[in-house]
Amino acid sequence: MPVDVILGLQWGDEGKGKIVDYLADKYSVVCRFQGGPNAGHTLYINGEKIVLHTIPSGIFRENVVNIIGNGVVLDPVTLNHEIGEIASLVPDLHERLMISDKTQLILPTHRWIDIASEAAKGKEKIGSTLRGIGPCYMDKTGRNGLRVGDLFSPNWENDYRSLKEKHLIFLRQFPEVEFNLNQHETEWFKSIEDLKRIKVIQAEYFLHEKLRNGENIMAEGAQGTMLDVDHGTYPFVTSSNTITAGVCTGLGLAPKHIQRVIGIAKAYCTRVGSGPFPSELQDEVGERLRKAGHEFGSTTGRPRRCGWLDLVQLRYSVILNGVTDLCITKVDILNDFEKVCMTTSYETANGRIEHVPFNWKDIHSVHNIELPGWNQDISGCHNYNHLPKALKGFLDQIQTHCQTPVSLLSTGPEREQLIFG
Ligand code: IMP
Repeated sequence: MPVDVILGLQWGDEGKGKIVDYLADKYSVVCRFQGGPNAGHTLYINGEKIVLHTIPSGIFRENVVNIIGNGVVLDPVTLNHEIGEIASLVPDLHERLMISDKTQLILPTHRWIDIASEAAKGKEKIGSTLRGIGPCYMDKTGRNGLRVGDLFSPNWENDYRSLKEKHLIFLRQFPEVEFNLNQHETEWFKSIEDLKRIKVIQAEYFLHEKLRNGENIMAEGAQGTMLDVDHGTYPFVTSSNTITAGVCTGLGLAPKHIQRVIGIAKAYCTRVGSGPFPSELQDEVGERLRKAGHEFGSTTGRPRRCGWLDLVQLRYSVILNGVTDLCITKVDILNDFEKVCMTTSYETANGRIEHVPFNWKDIHSVHNIELPGWNQDISGCHNYNHLPKALKGFLDQIQTHCQTPVSLLSTGPEREQLIFG
């Protein structure tokens, strides 16, 4: 039986959490395969807002096992807080949450290095969430990292100390950056004891058995395609492979098992942090989108930059991920717009282009098409056929441009506010 993938096609914050939560009951396992506590997946369960950073969004579905994969970087402190927040809603959490033994651990000094490195970048800041993500992945590829499975060896604290010493040598270059290491370490070691109570597994064997038994697996992406370390708006990206390919390395699953790839895109674009964003609107329309969409970071609270849907960028993401189904979210945010726009090409010194360039700075401006808005509340629509004509026209543009069907439409934050195409 297959592995289906759900991931973001823009710069993150596409509303993946809700879709994973909704679809999760069709799967016996939901896995996170990359990223870490930089992610913030927002779900509304019985009207209550919950933000998950590390725990997969299938945790609220009974009988669904949730795995934190080897491609994830895990901060035990954040995980502990998260568990505390949802404990009353998920009494059987310890039976249904498991961690790969190969998952990398974020140390307090990783966070300190993140803060120092970002400060040193000055104007070239990436806008990192400062959760220690980049430095932890650097230690992973530098072959210095500490993994969850290491915690069960008698000498792991020595390994911790020697890695910390390496970090402290590096940090001597930044004496001006303050960080209360003692306090963070105390909390970290306390959280490690709690972490050890969670089931640690060889996830690749576990998943293989599930597939052999005919069970379905869902892989839940974090961040978005344009933040992919290889194919995103480099260097303004995160440090992992956020695209479908990351599922294989981040879980130990062979490509042949992947079947559906559900790509999630918002009906407009947003981005937190710095970096290229061709269709960005730095005017009152952008401000209107931000207000209507409550576009403030769920992990950092930062205001998100807003702009029209960018079909050039979206098509690129569809190609990279092998998207089989598109899911368009936050369509309701455009309910009151008299007209809606979409970017269809970029203007460069060498003329108009319909692909993303190597150097994003080559883009001088964008060309948009303008479509009539649907100008009505769609909360009463539960069927694709009953959607306003203008909204169907908007979706047709997306399908034609991306050559991919829109199979799902999210019309509000609640679990049931979904329309199947
Ligand atoms: P880092 O992964 O925290 O180092 O951040 C790198 C870039 O990715 C920054 O621009 C962040 O704002 C952005 N980023 C990281 N995680 C997310 C996310 O879950 N949603 C949206 N943007 C993110």
